Amino acid sequence: MDEIAVGRLTDIADGDYRVFALDKIEVGIFRTGTKVLAYENVCPHAGGPVCQGKIFNQVEEIITPDKKSAGLRFGKQRHIVCPWHGYEYDLATGCHPGDPSVRLTPVKVTVRDGQIYVSLPE
Ligand code: FES
Repeated sequence: MDEIAVGRLTDIADGDYRVFALDKIEVGIFRTGTKVLAYENVCPHAGGPVCQGKIFNQVEEIITPDKKSAGLRFGKQRHIVCPWHGYEYDLATGCHPGDPSVRLTPVKVTVRDGQIYVSLPE
């Protein structure tokens, strides 16, 4: 498995991401604090550039004890929305919130001495 250096952790602001064209695939790298995650930039729905979508906190409906809606709020889970048709994926797991079997393809990524390395699949 080839490992490619793609930049410094400090090149990506906390909560932001970058998309890199590496060899035969595009990879989205997402930073949260000192942690990074990476996914192939291919939406499982129809192949859209999912890693270039908008990121926001999941919208949750507040349900009262008598089962009535008390409005909406932002939760803690961060989602990315595919720009082609709006499928959402939990950034932490890569899974669609309504069907976890629909998920982004993870890519191995590590940070050593402040440098981000991506391991490309063979
Ligand atoms: S290709 Fe991503 S939602 Fe359709």
